[in-house]
Amino acid sequence: MAREFTSVGVVGLGTMGAGIVEVFARSGVDVVAVEITDTALERGRATLSGSTDRAVAKGRLAAADRDALLGRVTFAVGLDALHAVDLVIEAVPERLDLKRRLFADLDRICKPEAVLATNTSSLSVTEIAVATGRPDQVIGIHFFNPAPVMKLVEVVRTVVTADDVVADVEALCARLGKVGVTIGDRAGFVANALLFGYLNHAVAMVEARYATREDIDVAMKLGCGLPMGPLALMDLIGLDTSYEVLDTMYRRGGRDRRHAPAPLLRQMVTAGLLGRKSGRGFYTYE
Ligand code: CAA
Repeated sequence: MAREFTSVGVVGLGTMGAGIVEVFARSGVDVVAVEITDTALERGRATLSGSTDRAVAKGRLAAADRDALLGRVTFAVGLDALHAVDLVIEAVPERLDLKRRLFADLDRICKPEAVLATNTSSLSVTEIAVATGRPDQVIGIHFFNPAPVMKLVEVVRTVVTADDVVADVEALCARLGKVGVTIGDRAGFVANALLFGYLNHAVAMVEARYATREDIDVAMKLGCGLPMGPLALMDLIGLDTSYEVLDTMYRRGGRDRRHAPAPLLRQMVTAGLLGRKSGRGFYTYE
């Protein structure tokens, strides 16, 4: 019988995790939202309230629906709160050792039939899956930023993911109002494999003073009809995440020069210029 996934856990409430909580709760799913510290938990709670308050102010969500949405979310510090959920999706930083440790813990804590999912952008879902005793129930569910807005979800199946898990997750994506594409476990999947060479090239252009950041962004917006230019997009994704994605794709994808992170990107991350989340990246934010 198909799984319903009526309760879902989300681990890590950064930009992506908080957005994923909103997506599930908006679709009537009960969510247990987990962080490792009170401070991080409060930051996640504030992101969710800010986003849903904005939706109410813009007339996209009724105040009563926002209250019902928030009422479906339970916030907790620590993984123990996830013992009864049907599905866990993690959105912690893009480090394989961290994710493997987390999945080993989830495997111990979650009920045996629970599906464990990763929102990784570029790491190997297979390597994460084999950190558990249930690799057939591990899958990639990759959302795009901002998760409440972007329609695509990449459903990543490994060579051992069970067919029924894939089918149930595909059905879940449709319930969330998303369009799912199901693909194999390859660095960057489809969208990032195509996108990040382009983003990296834009950074290299800035670095070489080939064109200004504004002109690069305007060229791609107005010349190619994209919703935002590459540098503004990297600020949205986060320069730290962008660096991690490129570095992982470079190392996993046969050291293709297109994915060797531009030195400027690393310097900006080291200097704490992370994009919108830190208030400054290629541009400055209020
Ligand atoms: N959370 C919730 N809603 C948001 C939001 C957020 N963070 N940001 C924007 N929105 C909503 C707005 O409220 C607005 O909704 P209404 O029209 O109903 O009022 C709508 O989205 C459009 O927003 P804006 O009018 O403010 O601005 P916009 O028209 O420029 O759209 C955008 C903003 C949706 C971000 C758009 O610029 C866009 O699509 N940019 C490209 C984003 C993209 O490529 N994302 C993929 C990144 S790659 C990735 O995520 C993969 C990875 O693994 C790293």
